[in-house]
Amino acid sequence: MNISFELNGKKVEADVPPRLTLADCIRHHFMQTGTHVGCEHGVCGACTVIVDGEAVRSCLMLAVQASGAKITTVEGLTPPEGLSPLQASFRKHHALQCGFCTPGFLTTAHALLTQEPDADKERIRHVLSGNLCRCTGYINIIEAVYEARSAYARTADSRKRTQP
Ligand code: FES
Ligand code: FES
Repeated sequence: MNISFELNGKKVEADVPPRLTLADCIRHHFMQTGTHVGCEHGVCGACTVIVDGEAVRSCLMLAVQASGAKITTVEGLTPPEGLSPLQASFRKHHALQCGFCTPGFLTTAHALLTQEPDADKERIRHVLSGNLCRCTGYINIIEAVYEARSAYARTADSRKRTQP
């Protein structure tokens, strides 16, 4: 089936089997290998991408279901000049070791803070509870996301100011 969607700001197209997952499509058709595949059944969160503003497990979604959507992977969160404030906060707080889970944490946290820049630690913990990390532990990750909130609050303020 022919599908097209926006991936990290660019229109992309592919001819895919109907049963191909969005995760495999992103990785193998478009070589955005930052999206990791761990459990392949919706448990670990490593494959999380942002689909039309919502954090979605790309191993549970078919590529054909994404037709017409706007998709952001961890590559799309990274500005050309370096790390985003959220990524820089992960580095500062030592919120990763092997990094396998990190793309899923970053995309999930980005979707959360974009919608709720004032999320408190309890809310952050709750939303990230569906992402598994086997080596870092969660305290540093929660701290990193919590500290990055100010960057999202600034973005939300500037959006409000530019609205008529
Ligand atoms: Fe998708 Fe684990 S690979 S949730
Ligand atoms: Fe290794 Fe999370 S940093 S699994």
